[in-house]
Amino acid sequence: MARIKVFLSILFVTAATVSDCSAATQKNVLFIVADDLRPELPAFKGSDTIVKTPNLDKLAAKSLVLKSAYVQQSVCGPSRTSALTSRRPDTTLVYDLDTYWRTDGGGDFSTIPQYFKDNGYRTAGLGKLFHPGSASGFDDPPSWSDTYFHAPNKRKWVIDDSWQSVTAAEELAQPLPDTQLADEAIIKLADMSTDALSGVQPFFLSLGFYKPHLPFVFPEDYLNWYPEVDVSLPDNPYAPVDMPDAAWEVYSELLNYDDITGTGAINTTLPDAKTLELRRAYYATISYVDAQVGRVLDELERLGLENDTIIAFWGDHGFSLGEHGEWCKKTNFEDAVKAPLMLRVPGDTDAGVVSERLVEFVDLFPSIVEAASLNQIAQCPTDSSLVAVCTEGTSFIPLISDPTRAWKDAAFSQNSATTNGINAMGYTIKTTDFRYTEWVKFNKRTHTMNWNKVYDVELYDHRIDPEENINRASDSTYAADITTLSNILHNGWRNAVP
Ligand SMILES: *[C@@H]1O[C@H](CO)[C@@H](O)[C@H](O)[C@H]1NC(C)=O
Ligand SMILES: *[C@@H]1O[C@H](CO)[C@@H](O)[C@H](O)[C@H]1NC(C)=O
Repeated sequence: MARIKVFLSILFVTAATVSDCSAATQKNVLFIVADDLRPELPAFKGSDTIVKTPNLDKLAAKSLVLKSAYVQQSVCGPSRTSALTSRRPDTTLVYDLDTYWRTDGGGDFSTIPQYFKDNGYRTAGLGKLFHPGSASGFDDPPSWSDTYFHAPNKRKWVIDDSWQSVTAAEELAQPLPDTQLADEAIIKLADMSTDALSGVQPFFLSLGFYKPHLPFVFPEDYLNWYPEVDVSLPDNPYAPVDMPDAAWEVYSELLNYDDITGTGAINTTLPDAKTLELRRAYYATISYVDAQVGRVLDELERLGLENDTIIAFWGDHGFSLGEHGEWCKKTNFEDAVKAPLMLRVPGDTDAGVVSERLVEFVDLFPSIVEAASLNQIAQCPTDSSLVAVCTEGTSFIPLISDPTRAWKDAAFSQNSATTNGINAMGYTIKTTDFRYTEWVKFNKRTHTMNWNKVYDVELYDHRIDPEENINRASDSTYAADITTLSNILHNGWRNAVP
């Protein structure tokens, strides 16, 4: 009898570790996001980039690096809302920078940090995770157990030009906001480490760097990392042949700075000298952010938490730096929808794993939940407006043990546009070989689209045109491909999962 009791209680404890925080084996989570960071890092582009990110390289070497990760809409609020709730824009109904999904959007959906909080974690948020302000009800209070933190002094960003370096003395006297964030993260880690190490309570620390978003502001030393002779122009400073107008975005965010001249019109771009200057400043800003990431990772190691902490690192979308003559985001081009994503799972990814399989940012929620051995999340029903926790993604954890296994047929993204005064939505898929987009009529009031009202089609053959320089949608030799791709697009993500 006694033996049976002991046996039962062992069973109970084993089961309990899966869903509550009572066990010291429960892993912590460090969740790091950077703003407007395209995958311009050696971990994603190898020697095809001059960008230097020694700290992220080190993290990548012990992580699952997902080289083909796509956001669901290439602008901050919609993308982050989608990733953090694991639902696509047509479910969150967040397509802009104002809508708060819980109150004005698709429903009162739980988030990644909220799920960890509900599972006994201490959750703390620093910097930019949700789109700030009313779009997140001011940093989404249900997600956090600690008071939300923003860098107290952001004065140094209020500049008229698109970029600026600060001297070492200036940085010392008044650290830049991302330095302030890393400082706070280091304090937080020390504060949370005691309970985490003793098994009393694990933590979920979210750290949202504000850069490399415009304006590019960084300590001047980072300019020395990028001698002018090493910085080059994009080799395709023109719009694709046969690109429909809907695919173009006038980059007013950049045009508004005093040092930028131009109209943002199709097949115009900035002067070469300015393009080179901006590319150099963007790279310098990335290296500055990398240094801040490094300070936090070093502290995690110093506290003895490195093997007990899952680390996610991601960007909210890509960023065009003059390719196609285009700048910034809000397009369906590869440069805007592809973003960095990596996940360190201690014990499982220590040797480093690289996968080229197509993954989507809605996959992050179920993946991180599986990595932490919490109760897995069910796939969302077609109407999930009243379901607090569910996923429209797929956990990518199986790619750790088998990074080349058969996986998703396509990654789905979308982008809204106005074409000839009509509201359109560009629904796009990335497959192994192609990018395929249909611009269809979209009713903004009912949030519905109409596949029978297609205004424009784009097809880029990534096998021979990875830069997307020629739209081949009217090329009859691609007719069969277009039929296949259109079916994948219309059948939707549910039919493209592994
Ligand atoms: C833009 O310019 C390029 C190079 O001159 C040309 O091939 C392309 O057709 C143009 N694209 C559009 C959309 O006008
Ligand atoms: C973490 O794991 C690595 C590899 O197994 C080991 O070398 C290192 O000492 C561990 N660190 C701690 C703090 O236990």
